Amino acid sequence: MKISSIEKLINWYKKNKRELPWRDTNNPYDVWLSEIMLQQTRIEAVIPKFLLFKKELPTIEDLSKCDDDHLMRLWEGLGYYSRARNLKKCANVLVKEYDGKLPSTYHELIHLPGIGPYTAGAIASIAFNEKVTAIDGNVLRIIARIYGIKDDILSTSTKTKIKELLEPFYVSIKSPKDLNQAWMELGQRICLPNGLPECKKCPLNKECYTYKNQLFDEIPYRHALKSRKVIHRTILIIRDHTRFVLHKRPSSGVLANLYEFVGVDEILNRKEVLEKVEALGFSANHIKKLPSSKHIFTHLEWHMDAYEIQVSQIKELKDSSYILKTKKELENFAIPSAFKTYVEYYALRD
Ligand code: ADE
Repeated sequence: MKISSIEKLINWYKKNKRELPWRDTNNPYDVWLSEIMLQQTRIEAVIPKFLLFKKELPTIEDLSKCDDDHLMRLWEGLGYYSRARNLKKCANVLVKEYDGKLPSTYHELIHLPGIGPYTAGAIASIAFNEKVTAIDGNVLRIIARIYGIKDDILSTSTKTKIKELLEPFYVSIKSPKDLNQAWMELGQRICLPNGLPECKKCPLNKECYTYKNQLFDEIPYRHALKSRKVIHRTILIIRDHTRFVLHKRPSSGVLANLYEFVGVDEILNRKEVLEKVEALGFSANHIKKLPSSKHIFTHLEWHMDAYEIQVSQIKELKDSSYILKTKKELENFAIPSAFKTYVEYYALRD
């Protein structure tokens, strides 16, 4: 690829870029927050969450002081809650060590909680115009297609090769901020991952090996993904006349520290459900089967059976990891989206 093509790409970006609430605000906090939210989530889903988050926590200092329940509520629906916890951890470091501001270089950013090579590159370039790459899946796909790279796109050696191919371009351009966002925009709107890319509209099509040879099915090449582990669970929605029982998950592992409906990692029949409920110290009066559901995490799938168990008035809870909440209280309480079917079943959210 020639440097003139890179300039062409930047011009294409300037003409075609979408207005996004974090774009061109000149506020590094906006860039950081949007990059973290966008890591596993589509732009359309992020926009309203970003706007609400910024309304409630307009500064990094506000974020550092935010209590955890409020933070989880603001993050609800985005999934991968460790991102939110790291965001607050990082805000605390910024307040203590950086006067409540983000540092401006890749090498400082990369040491902060929750900030890896891609995010450090994205913040350093977009917020501070540092001449660094920000290589995500979009960039890997685009460069593999342009150069006809047929190695496994997820391997470390391919990533290194692509980084080395790109770095010389960053030395001479004036606006790494625009170039990095141009790759993102091209990857999301033209050089699409699934289905046919819109090559006729692509500013780089004259140089693209994959377009010239019509090899979209082969490039980018990916080794078969490892299959996700499936866990069969039984969810026990235990309630007395006024309240639901919730359980705080352990401090490590999936959905760490979040409150959930009680559950076990095995399939139980009705009799076993009742035995389990009694073993937890409740007196079961009535049991009802609820809809089954599935939730897919990155490396894991939960396949859930569920039962509602009506119990006698609960006087005390034996274990401090259990709490009681009324339906009204649950309307303002963050329950992870893995339990969406049951949150909707009880109309705990609109
Ligand atoms: N995806 C990741 N970061 C992005 C950004 N800053 N703009 C648009 N899409 C993105």
